[in-house]
Amino acid sequence: MAKSTKTTKRSWAEPYKIKMVELLKMTTREEREKMIREAGYNTFLLRSKDVYIDLLTDSGTSAMSDQQWAGMMLGDEAYAGSENFYHLEETIQNYYGYKYVIPCHQGRGAENIISKILIKPGDIIPGNMYFTTTRLHQELAGGTFVDVIVDEAHDPVNLHPFKGNVDLQKLTDVIKRYGAEKIPYVCIATSVNMAGGQPISMENLKAVRKLTKKHGIRIIHDMTRVAENAWFIKMREKGYANKTTAQIVKEICSYTDGATMSAKKDALVNIGGFLAINEHDIYEEASNMVVVYEGLHTYGGMAGRDMEAMAIGIKESVSDNHIRARIGQVEYLGHKLIDAGVPIVQPIGGHGIFLDAKKFLPHIPQTAFPAQTLAAEIYVDSGVRSMERGIVSAGRNKVTGDHYYPELELVRLTIPRRVYTQAHMDVISESIEEVFLNRKKIKGLKMIYEPKYLRFFQAKFTKLK
Ligand code: F0G
Repeated sequence: MAKSTKTTKRSWAEPYKIKMVELLKMTTREEREKMIREAGYNTFLLRSKDVYIDLLTDSGTSAMSDQQWAGMMLGDEAYAGSENFYHLEETIQNYYGYKYVIPCHQGRGAENIISKILIKPGDIIPGNMYFTTTRLHQELAGGTFVDVIVDEAHDPVNLHPFKGNVDLQKLTDVIKRYGAEKIPYVCIATSVNMAGGQPISMENLKAVRKLTKKHGIRIIHDMTRVAENAWFIKMREKGYANKTTAQIVKEICSYTDGATMSAKKDALVNIGGFLAINEHDIYEEASNMVVVYEGLHTYGGMAGRDMEAMAIGIKESVSDNHIRARIGQVEYLGHKLIDAGVPIVQPIGGHGIFLDAKKFLPHIPQTAFPAQTLAAEIYVDSGVRSMERGIVSAGRNKVTGDHYYPELELVRLTIPRRVYTQAHMDVISESIEEVFLNRKKIKGLKMIYEPKYLRFFQAKFTKLK
């Protein structure tokens, strides 16, 4: 019999099955109108019980595996020297290759410690785009963040495959202008959150390593979403197709001197983080400082059971099957929206879909908060909760007191890991298409309450007439 030459389509599917479910509450449009008004048109101020599909963040919202839950039962809740700490330390050393580990309650705990240790007033910290908490800790320590990401990252339609790359000329200019002694480290994020979950290439990272080495400058890696970045390298960069995600993750880390990690994302836990560092002096200071801000250096603000779940989560997070399905789901939603003509940041990022609010609502000026407005409208339409990533998140310039006016005015639909199904993705897409059809009727917002720090979390708004 002749062999068939027909090739059939082979879909990816979730590499797990469901053992327990959490029931969702449905609300009416009238109820949601009331709820968002009471929340000051800020999706952070909604109660989660009033949310149908929660895409506020991928942070701390993952579904843990049965193995992780089993690990929770192995919690060694000793104040000092918990067995789970040693398991976590060994896992970080094995999978990421860093020498010393300081556990922290979450990413910003690690950011606080490393900023306090390395930054002196007047210092400059170049980075591939800011992240809200990271930049704030740098500023609180007396430093100034300088953006050295490639220009393509600020352009939502540019299809550059590595929009997380550093512009080497910009970095060279910053070093020339301020001098290497004013730069305690370059902050390199993998899967750049504020650019839309865009990766940095290995080639670019290696070039940054070469340049910083020449000037004796460290690289501190924000490795919150390192496995997602590694998957894009595997898919897009020459020479990596046959490497595993785990191998690529370890190679990325090898070009950096230390890392801050919010384990609430890639590492599949609901709480936790760490600071990792290769220099012994910094480790010593950090293990002293962690006692002041987080907890003893063998728990850093976490319960033993949380450290155990994290150790298991790290292992699961670098599995190719896991990452293929994770990114596959995000891409499924992204392609549906692109097909419907909805303006989104492209290429589709790793942890979510980012709607381009400037294009979605071109009649609303940035000072009337188009992305904040759009997030509120989507909630009213369907109970889907998203988040503003635009002028509200960008905050104010600490010198002039004026808003920062970011190029990117985005609404982030962040997909929690292993939580929602493809049918949920369909419902989300249909709701956004509906809001898009009626976009001309949407009016902007006015800010009526503005907190001093990280204002996007708690700011309140009212509707413009
Ligand atoms: N770095 C990046 C790139 C992040 O995305 C986050 C958190 C942090 C650091 C801080 O970590 O929350 O554990 O203290 N991002 C969340 C988000 C809040 O929704 O994007 P944390």
